[in-house]
Amino acid sequence: MHADLQRVLIDRETLAQRVAELAQEISGQLGQVGEITLVPILTGSIIFVADLIRHLPIQMQIHLMSVSSYPGTSTTSQGVTMNHALSGVPDDLAGLHVLLIDDILDSGATINAVRDELQARGPDTLHTAVLLRKERPDLVQPDVDFVAFDIPDAFVVGYGLDFDDYYRNLPDIGVLRADVIQRAQDRTSPPTAEAS
Ligand code: IMP
Ligand code: MG
Repeated sequence: MHADLQRVLIDRETLAQRVAELAQEISGQLGQVGEITLVPILTGSIIFVADLIRHLPIQMQIHLMSVSSYPGTSTTSQGVTMNHALSGVPDDLAGLHVLLIDDILDSGATINAVRDELQARGPDTLHTAVLLRKERPDLVQPDVDFVAFDIPDAFVVGYGLDFDDYYRNLPDIGVLRADVIQRAQDRTSPPTAEAS
């Protein structure tokens, strides 16, 4: 286990098995439409999508979408910004069956914003898939069509998920140690009035 993790939450074997299973669920529901258009949200979903599509025997195109919501060392959403210049999604999605894919559903702000943006481009159908869904009983999360794992409300990294853009390469998903987060935030936050 990486030294910065408090514990491994989902190991690589469990990830591999469940992602293959999720692909079966997606094929079962979307396999009849002929062709699907995947819209993965960068950067967190890259490893999930890479593994998922190799279990999806459906004709597909992939258009990447870039969104920022957790700049730097923040661990809560700071509002969603769509990076249109980095988006390869066509303006007109008429005739297409779109599957929006993200790494993790937390508040739902990201999925909501991107879903609205895609819906406005008029796809024939629009479905959503996430690798992880955080339990947030304190708020109303949007419904998603496909979820690989429901997880407790903790900050997790690995298998594509990052903290300050690090740890995406860890093969397992783990809970990041609170003191690691704290130290990084202390380094990057400007000194407060009392501290200076
Ligand atoms: P939401 O907009 O609050 O649903 O947050 C979703 C986005 O925040 C995801 O696309 C992730 O990039 C990021 N995120 C949320 N929770 C975590 C986490 O525990 N680890 C890493 N990234 C996270
Ligand atoms: Mg993300």
